[in-house]
Amino acid sequence: MKVTIVGAGNVGATCADVISYRGIASEVVLLDIKEGFAEGKALDIMQCATNTGFNTKVSGVTNDYSKTAGSDVVVITSGIPRKPGMTREELIGINAGIVKTVAENVLKFSPNTIIVVVSNPMDTMTYLALKATGLPKNRIIGMGGALDSSRFRTYLSLALDKPANDISAMVIGGHGDTTMIPLTRLASYNGIPVTEFLSEEVLQKVAADTMVGGATLTGLLGTSAWYAPGASVAFLVDSILNDQKKMIACSVFVEGEYGQNDICIGVPCIIGKNGVEEILDIKLNEQEKALFAKSADAVRGMNDALKS
Ligand code: NAI
Repeated sequence: MKVTIVGAGNVGATCADVISYRGIASEVVLLDIKEGFAEGKALDIMQCATNTGFNTKVSGVTNDYSKTAGSDVVVITSGIPRKPGMTREELIGINAGIVKTVAENVLKFSPNTIIVVVSNPMDTMTYLALKATGLPKNRIIGMGGALDSSRFRTYLSLALDKPANDISAMVIGGHGDTTMIPLTRLASYNGIPVTEFLSEEVLQKVAADTMVGGATLTGLLGTSAWYAPGASVAFLVDSILNDQKKMIACSVFVEGEYGQNDICIGVPCIIGKNGVEEILDIKLNEQEKALFAKSADAVRGMNDALKS
């Protein structure tokens, strides 16, 4: 199985690293516009093979899309990341041009590929990739919910003092500091609702920390995060390539689901070899429905900026 990652920066290279050492794909191609950069990252990752025990072939190319031919999955991380104080939305103009060109280029050599969009503002970039390529909606997946849900589970794990892997929780809605919706009501620890253990006040704090999870790291690091984003992309790619049919919150094109149309937004999806196999209809309460509608309006507003 072959994966191409466009953008060999922090997120792209971390994703390549995780895919390799977990043996998720047999071949990874990193592509970047910066001369020699992807080649360097690929060599560095390949030189981990003997000490971490993987056999994935990793290569890097500068702008040569012919080397990406026959990719089963293409991940788009190319673009600029956030700086402290910036919102994801402020990246729109620059990243829109990049994502559109990249999506068109990869399809010339991998017409059957599934595209995973990571570049921000991710929901809008996913929508743009879908419209620009005309691909069926199951083959364009925006990665945001996997990361946000992972951050949510981490903050819940800290509040509960229990392992994050014993906690089940999901974030839906837009991938923005004010648009994402951590579903606290449905979060559980080994099947027991976390509301049994945590007060409303603590849960509100966990949700608030989750929502600004990315901004907190941007403030600490001086640029946006990469370990958890890279691992989250790899988790998603694994479910596609190995047809795991995991339920993952992803930004996908909705046609009536959750009362919304003509946007890409985070909803619970079954992810397998065809990309988005199914959108799950979880029963939201009135308050959650209202938050989702507000989030969808914000995402729609951001998409409108593409037209201006
Ligand atoms: P980075 O700056 O480390 O890497 C971006 C790479 O893209 C650079 O190496 C650059 O040379 C390359 N690039 C730019 N234009 C290109 C083009 N036309 N073709 C090929 N390569 C090109 O940035 P980082 O931290 O890796 O973030 C990448 C993107 O992912 C940003 O837009 C960031 O906001 C987003 N992001 C999204 C997350 C999500 O959950 N969806 C999480 C974290 C970051």
